[in-house]
Amino acid sequence: MNKILIESLSLQYSDGTESLRDVSLNIREHAVTVLFGPAGGGKSTLLRCLNRLNDLAEVKASSGRILIDGENILDPKIDVIALRRKVGMVFARPVPLPMSIRENVTYALELAGEKRRVKLDEAVERSLKLAAIWDEVKDRLDAPAIALSGGQQQRVCLARALALQPEIILLDEPTSGLDPISTGKVEAALQELKKDYTIILVPHSVQQAGRTADYAAFFLQGELVEYGEGKSIFTAPKQKKTEDYVTGRFG
Ligand SMILES: Nc1ncnc2c1ncn2[C@@H]1O[C@H](COP(=O)(O)OP(=O)(O)OP(=O)(O)O)[C@@H](O)[C@H]1O
Ligand SMILES: [Mg+2]
Repeated sequence: MNKILIESLSLQYSDGTESLRDVSLNIREHAVTVLFGPAGGGKSTLLRCLNRLNDLAEVKASSGRILIDGENILDPKIDVIALRRKVGMVFARPVPLPMSIRENVTYALELAGEKRRVKLDEAVERSLKLAAIWDEVKDRLDAPAIALSGGQQQRVCLARALALQPEIILLDEPTSGLDPISTGKVEAALQELKKDYTIILVPHSVQQAGRTADYAAFFLQGELVEYGEGKSIFTAPKQKKTEDYVTGRFG
């Protein structure tokens, strides 16, 4: 089933940069879709459109529609707070809040009004388990999150996003600063999470794209060059430009 329909999306920043040009793409639920391609291709811009984080950027013009469960989320009248609950995001550098591991996970829930200790404790355990970090931190939930390793911090950030029970998770190069073992743990967590969520990942390398993608979309200078199943894009791309990139001829 398609969860997200992106229809003829174009976006131009105020400095004139045309970051997305007539992009149309459907994103399946219960799968990992990777957006990959060289720097400046528009991958982060597209991710930020999906939870309206680009509202904060200097955008000169945008057109097109993004339907999530049938609702056009680019409509100025939609509830952006509700959208961001439904579409969680994890960034490249883990940025834990200067609080304990437990509070990192409960912070947004408490802001949203949840005060019941049992509910908060449940959310902590459930989210940390989903992010594949529970076993490593369950005995020190009150320790500061910044004392963890980078890879652990990133999984706590993933747990923080999961605590709000989103349906879609956006990850922009979530393992770019991590060692191979931590990277493997984050990738393994995503493979579990995709059973229940819609996951959109900007990978930090073509290799990671190949390892994780159920579906893949190749972006070059704001245009969607090719979209398909991961296994065909990385073994038998249809477009010459995709082939040149996945075989390492440029990038
Ligand atoms: N806030 C902004 N204001 C102006 N221009 C921007 C902004 N964000 C991105 N751009 C420009 O839009 C284009 C696409 O950038 P974007 O960050 O979406 O690419 P990307 O594919 O994520 O690249 P990378 O792989 O380097 O992260 C680039 O030319 C970039 O300079
Ligand atoms: Mg980017």
